Amino acid sequence: MKIKEIKTEDLHPEEFIREKIQEISSVVGSDLAISALSGGVDSSTVTMLGHKALGDKLKTYFIDNGLMRQNEPQQIVPAFKNLGVRVEIVNAQEKFFNALKDITNPEEKREAVTQTFYKDVFGQLVRESGAKYLLQGTILTDVDETVAGIKRQHNVFEQLGINPEEAFGYKIIEPLIQLRKDGVRKLAQTLGLPEFIYNRIPFPGPALVTRIIGEVTPEKVEIVRKATAIVESELSNTNAFQYMAILHPDRVTGVRDGKRDYGFQIEIRCWDSIDAREAEPTRLSHDTLEKLAYRITTEISSVVSVTYNITSKPPSTMEAV
Ligand code: XMP
Repeated sequence: MKIKEIKTEDLHPEEFIREKIQEISSVVGSDLAISALSGGVDSSTVTMLGHKALGDKLKTYFIDNGLMRQNEPQQIVPAFKNLGVRVEIVNAQEKFFNALKDITNPEEKREAVTQTFYKDVFGQLVRESGAKYLLQGTILTDVDETVAGIKRQHNVFEQLGINPEEAFGYKIIEPLIQLRKDGVRKLAQTLGLPEFIYNRIPFPGPALVTRIIGEVTPEKVEIVRKATAIVESELSNTNAFQYMAILHPDRVTGVRDGKRDYGFQIEIRCWDSIDAREAEPTRLSHDTLEKLAYRITTEISSVVSVTYNITSKPPSTMEAV
């Protein structure tokens, strides 16, 4: 069934929120639902909608998959506490790293993340809590890209003919599925989420897996996590849609203190876009690029080379994996 888009200019946030609260509460009834909060705009918005609709009948979890950016739970959990939403942190790092071991193919990596989230981690949470529903922040762009066969987005099932109840043992509710990212930001603001959340750059569900080419290991995640923190702090004033650091698997020869070095390469991407369907590389100044290269190669000793991607989407995609 084709999903009917609600264009951002046609979205009336208050009305939409009222309707969705009504819908969620009538679907869930007297049952329990869970929400997996990652701190991204979509999952934060869905968690607030669920909280307003269900109160204590919603259990919110932050899954620490070991693949998130620096200090994620420390920033997100207190922000939700301020809004009256209790978030429980679930440590699932080992499960994700085991599932990703030895996999280099991008779509297989995405599938490993999906199965670990939905079958293993959420499946267990649903069984333990007795919940029947999972609330999730799928948006129309996620569906489009998956259906078009560009990328298997981690959170799309029905459109691929997968019945979540049969595959994982619970039903999925997707209140944001008719919207694009800019529409979700409007809602998030209306719902009273703090600006650092509603204006956050997008961050994909499979997290830093999408930014490591080749096998994902804890050591590689650590390198790309540090590079991500540097890129985000240096580019936050650009107004770009999204910016990221990508770790390449092959190493290159470098020189440090007059001696040969053999280290990793980080690729920086910074995108101008409205809704992620098409994107252009931001025209960053050379000074900014040089500062990024300097900081990355001095603060991360295993990196000897930094590049900037100058390709548009298409033919590139925004994430590398
Ligand atoms: P691509 O790389 O497909 O990314 O050009 C377009 C936008 O989608 C985000 N993205 C994802 N978001 N689950 C998500 O929730 C995913 O599996 C996923 N893959 C890509 C990406 O960060 C960009 O904003």
